[in-house]
Amino acid sequence: FPAKLEDKFGRLHDYLRISVTDRCNLRCVYCMPEEGLAFEPDDSLLRFDEITEVVRVLAGLGVSKLRITGGEPLVRKNLHLLIADLADIPGIRDIALTTNGIFFAPHAEKFKEAGLTRLNISLDSLREDRFRTITRGGDLKRVLASLDAAYRVGFEPVKLNVVLMKGLNEDEIDDFLQMTIDKDIQVRFIEYMPIGHQDMSWKERYVPLSRVLERCKDKGWAFEAAGVLTGNGPSQNYRIRGARGSFGLIHPVSDHFCASCNRLRLTADGNIKPCLYWSHEYNVRAYLGDEKALQELFFKALAIKPESHEMAKALVGESPSHEPTLRRMSQIGG
Ligand code: GTP
Ligand code: 5AD
Ligand code: SF4
Repeated sequence: FPAKLEDKFGRLHDYLRISVTDRCNLRCVYCMPEEGLAFEPDDSLLRFDEITEVVRVLAGLGVSKLRITGGEPLVRKNLHLLIADLADIPGIRDIALTTNGIFFAPHAEKFKEAGLTRLNISLDSLREDRFRTITRGGDLKRVLASLDAAYRVGFEPVKLNVVLMKGLNEDEIDDFLQMTIDKDIQVRFIEYMPIGHQDMSWKERYVPLSRVLERCKDKGWAFEAAGVLTGNGPSQNYRIRGARGSFGLIHPVSDHFCASCNRLRLTADGNIKPCLYWSHEYNVRAYLGDEKALQELFFKALAIKPESHEMAKALVGESPSHEPTLRRMSQIGG
């Protein structure tokens, strides 16, 4: 085997996003249908020792950065034990978590001690009533308490993920930008993506992120590209002059970043997924316990990884060149 996970487009893969569950305590309107989704039965989820084995083999091939996602990762019991095991794997030097923040506050210290290095919180509105509507029942106060707890135990700066959507939170861009002026935080605006959507309803909600820079200009806020920020993802970072924090733009639809893609995904039910957008998946379960066979599977997944997603084609209704995934974001891990 080659020693590194390089694909035919010269992209080196050193970042693994690990989904630990497809369940979530919220049902955000853009992520899950009102009636919810059919969840995986518990016995189809990888156990922590199985996830650790997969990561150990990938670390041997150059993966050094991990992100734990879901669903909502904190609905999985004893998550700190997984984090501690992952932190012990030679070569792993960054373990981040993406959470909706509802359950995080009481666990902040435990996660820090287990070896969690970074925290991204998904938060699409700063208004209580609207937050409740978007999340179908979530309590904003608990997310804000988690944000405080995160700072208290030393996760700094925390990143907030804001999926911008027409008619839902587009009018809060200024408030989120103001937050970056006041606080050492990074607010990342994200374009709404058609992942597993089988109709075109996402298109009506989609907002291109050029809107954020327009708002900055309208407000007379001078901004510049921000210097180096810790992160392994696709965010393009800026800072408003004099601000304590910064903001980032993640714009897969209007301007994709696939040429610099560095990531593989492991779904909660044990599938290696080379690209978020497409349907290709390879289940690891039959290969556990056999390092060579696992390595072979990873290279097979890498070999099939397309050069880019085709969300822009979806926007204009053109047919895609491969099969887009039918799984929703919560079933993949984002
Ligand atoms: P950092 O390492 O802190 O930069 O994190 P990240 O941006 O990699 O992770 P996060 O889970 O916070 O993801 C933020 C947004 O970026 C989510 O909406 C993800 O779905 C999206 N995203 C992450 N990776 C990819 C990717 O490979 N392709 C696309 N299209 N979107 C991605
Ligand atoms: N488009 C863009 N971002 C999404 N997320 C969930 N679904 C979508 C989508 N369709 C975000 C979540 C979370 C991150 C992992 O992905 O809000 O912040
Ligand atoms: Fe990588 Fe696929 Fe995301 Fe593009 S859409 S950045 S190829 S995972």
